[in-house]
Amino acid sequence: ATIKEFQTTLLAWYDANRRDLPWRQDHDPYHVWVSEIMLQQTQVNTVIPYYQRFMASFPTVEKLAQAPEEQLLKAWEGLGYYSRVRNMQRAARQLLTDNGGQWPHTKAELQKLVGIGPYTAGAIASIAFNQPEPAVDGNAFRVFSQLLEIDADITKPQSRSLFEEVIRKIISKDRPGDFNQAIMDLGSSYMTAKNPDNEHSPVKKFNQAYLDGRLDEFPVRSKR
Ligand code: ADE
Repeated sequence: ATIKEFQTTLLAWYDANRRDLPWRQDHDPYHVWVSEIMLQQTQVNTVIPYYQRFMASFPTVEKLAQAPEEQLLKAWEGLGYYSRVRNMQRAARQLLTDNGGQWPHTKAELQKLVGIGPYTAGAIASIAFNQPEPAVDGNAFRVFSQLLEIDADITKPQSRSLFEEVIRKIISKDRPGDFNQAIMDLGSSYMTAKNPDNEHSPVKKFNQAYLDGRLDEFPVRSKR
């Protein structure tokens, strides 16, 4: 199986089955950013109403930068990990004061903003700016470790770079944002951690661990 075949299969499945989520209406970096921060510790279905209320209250980076803290914390109530929204406000101010309100387009520059790590920077760079950058979260670790039988221990920090290098070779250069989001959707549908359905997965013929009957061996996680 070739990389091209995998990309075509994955993107065709995404085109036919993608969830119509509120943050997928456009490629605005502000929309991508807020949704990715909310989605870090929270399920898609829970995030949807929070995202909609947040955008109604704080429709722009400027509004977020100016918001009274109690209003921000109120909007976050129920999502938890309040440092996420506090950091978002700091990053919004950083963007306005240091960058004239202009979003950087590269993953490296995005990572200089408070609270934006390699995953979020990869998501924004690929989805909003069409950069062929990986966005490696827990789902991507699981999906790619199974597809390619990557036996690097995902609890080790250096494994992220290894996965990123592998994914850079495989990511669609035409549609990197859709490629990354298709991987996220696979990770929350056919290739879940708890109730996977690889038998019906659109990428089962590319899933080496499935083909070898070794799904239970991936991802490798030594720490416990
Ligand atoms: N999980 C994390 N980011 C996501 C996205 N953009 N769409 C769906 N699920 C996600």
